[in-house]
Amino acid sequence: MRSFLFVPADSDKKLAKGASSGADALILDLEDAVALSNKEAARRGAADYLKSADRNGPKLCVRMNALDTPLWRDDLKAVAAHAPHAILIPKTISGDCVKKVAHALDLLEAEAGLRTDTIKLFCVATETAASMFNLGTYAGSSPRLFALTWGAEDLAAALAARDNRDETGAYTGPYQMARTLTLLGAVAAGVSPVDTIYKDFRDEAGLERETRAAARDGFTAKMAIHPAQIEIINRIFTPSEEDLAHARAVIDAFDKAGDVGVVALDGVMLDIPHLKQARALLARAAAAKTI
Ligand code: COA
Ligand code: MG
Repeated sequence: MRSFLFVPADSDKKLAKGASSGADALILDLEDAVALSNKEAARRGAADYLKSADRNGPKLCVRMNALDTPLWRDDLKAVAAHAPHAILIPKTISGDCVKKVAHALDLLEAEAGLRTDTIKLFCVATETAASMFNLGTYAGSSPRLFALTWGAEDLAAALAARDNRDETGAYTGPYQMARTLTLLGAVAAGVSPVDTIYKDFRDEAGLERETRAAARDGFTAKMAIHPAQIEIINRIFTPSEEDLAHARAVIDAFDKAGDVGVVALDGVMLDIPHLKQARALLARAAAAKTI
């Protein structure tokens, strides 16, 4: 999956629009895009959508409310029986949060007659100061876990920061650290690193730059808040024909050279890490076709 589009679950209009956005996955939001007075309407909206949507379309995820609210258990009860692809847990502190939600889902899946681990999990893992010290704790937390992502807005609020970007538009230290630790924590846990949203949804050039940087650094996907962002994200996370041809040439060069650790291609030294990168790119391209 390359793109995840947030859709506030209390908006019928946006829910209807999400299906045709081209996003690989939708995140039906019950959390911060929904006013407290509308939580119940959002749960109904998400449940109805899960029941009626074409399940051959985008994968359907639901963002629950955080574990420190009285809302999250009712969120899960409202949607679990309709088998969303995944639940996004916001404001996680550590891998223990994944275990807690996984346990609640074990019971709800059993009640609904669903196979255990049908519903996958992913986390917004950098939204509190304490979360930042635990990005290495997600490995082995649950077989349901398939991705980690990060958030710069809630972290800025938690730090009472005046802004999270500097005068050039670049994220300042704490948010760069959140991004980097999410990338490393996800890879260490064997799950997909997913880049955060770009909130200035009319700034296509800015989104393009940030998405290219994410793909360059190893993120496999990016979240979106507006349908206009999807084409850019999907395009950048789809390896180009040129990238694929280069990866094939690298593999070919090693195959032809036999049992060696280093080869030359077009005047450039290639060793085993380059072979691994080439294989990973082809595997990612193959996986992108099966979403
Ligand atoms: N999902 C589905 N449809 C969306 C959408 C989204 N996230 N964002 C906008 N649209 C729809 C609009 O309803 C509008 O539909 P229409 O053409 O039928 O009127 C169309 O796309 C164009 O929208 P636009 O007028 O450009 O933006 P807006 O002012 O209606 O909405 C936001 C701007 C930011 C409020 C909206 O994009 C949004 O709600 N995003 C998601 C926010 C969210 O979930 N945040 C939590 C995670 S950080
Ligand atoms: Mg948030």
